[in-house]
Amino acid sequence: MHEQGKFRQEGVELTNAVKVRCGNLRPLHEQLADEIAVAVARVLKSAWYVLGPEVDAFERAFADYHNVGFAVGVANGTDAIELALRAGGVGPGDEVITVAHTAVATVCAIERAGAIPILVDIDPIDFTMDPDACCAAVNSRTKAIVPVHLYGHPANLGALSAIAERHGLLLIEDCAQAHGARYDGRLVGTFGQMSAFSFYPTKNLGAYGDGGAVITDDPQLAARLKRLRFYGQAERYQAVERGINSRLDEMQAAILSVKLKYLDAHNQARRAIADFYGTSLSGVELPRLRQSGDSSAAVSIRHVYHQYVIRHARRNELSTALRDAGVETQIHYPIPVHRQPAYADLGYSKGSLPVTERIADQILSLPICVGLTTSDLAIVANAIATFTEKEGCHNAA
Ligand SMILES: Cc1ncc(COP(=O)(O)O)c(C=O)c1O
Repeated sequence: MHEQGKFRQEGVELTNAVKVRCGNLRPLHEQLADEIAVAVARVLKSAWYVLGPEVDAFERAFADYHNVGFAVGVANGTDAIELALRAGGVGPGDEVITVAHTAVATVCAIERAGAIPILVDIDPIDFTMDPDACCAAVNSRTKAIVPVHLYGHPANLGALSAIAERHGLLLIEDCAQAHGARYDGRLVGTFGQMSAFSFYPTKNLGAYGDGGAVITDDPQLAARLKRLRFYGQAERYQAVERGINSRLDEMQAAILSVKLKYLDAHNQARRAIADFYGTSLSGVELPRLRQSGDSSAAVSIRHVYHQYVIRHARRNELSTALRDAGVETQIHYPIPVHRQPAYADLGYSKGSLPVTERIADQILSLPICVGLTTSDLAIVANAIATFTEKEGCHNAA
């Protein structure tokens, strides 16, 4: 895909220099356009637009994909985390352990549930929660652990499940970036009592607007999640507890049902791009898979590459060189949550999460999305080779 001329992205006018974009959704839409149009037309004709048969069908299909009893559709991934915590009984004064190297949304959701986020450091190999740091943060106020399968790489679910079990804590997986990823052969999202998904358009399973879901095997938790997403109502106009409005709409559900059928194929396409980068790039540090679980035993990891994140000591120069060569890059995330101004009052000083802080200055997300062509990928690889050769750069990570 070569974008020439001007185009708009999220309301921003870009110059004509961009040749390879990071998250271009158009090729994927073009692949599925006919099926999506049929689904959308069906919803329009039905004149039922929120929490109806399309949501029921998608919830069933999403639960079946994970081989769990229930999926509860909600308005977005942030709500999914908040409502999972609330359904699990987490509330004011409770501590919830998560990472600072994540989307702000993870922490935002914990606070919206009334709880206190406790931010711990990450593993330097795969950038997900360090189980030792998690263990050290557990105390009598801890109620839940929320690991994030960042970039599509499963967190260390063996070690984290063991910690949760040992201390009687809820494990709620943040699967917003990891639909279809597997840990030890098992889909992520099936380890915690509940797991939260986002269907933001650029996610591995993305809607055409906002959407989210919580999956669980527990019928009581599923029933509570359904109440909480609908003003706390058990039945219409019967509020049995305080809830919120977090409904999934029929249009998004119908589209998600179409796209769910292709999730594994689309993840495979991302993995093929990752394979290309893995064999073509040099002079930068490539993403690595964790090789072992909670012991030294090897655990298989199926990464679904929501992001393809490399490291380089001169990250900013590399990103400028790529931009000049027409390659868009992003940084997930440039400022860890504990260093964001909004969260200064959480009380983490500079240096308190050293791995998180070190990698934030080195990471760079390369284009990875369904529909990138071999010539797009060659442009990216050539631009990186030109930079590393010219600078004589060596990875200092
Ligand atoms: C790791 C992570 N958690 C939670 C969320 C929140 O999802 P949403 O944007 O659908 O509210 C996101 C989305 O950006 C995410 O990447």
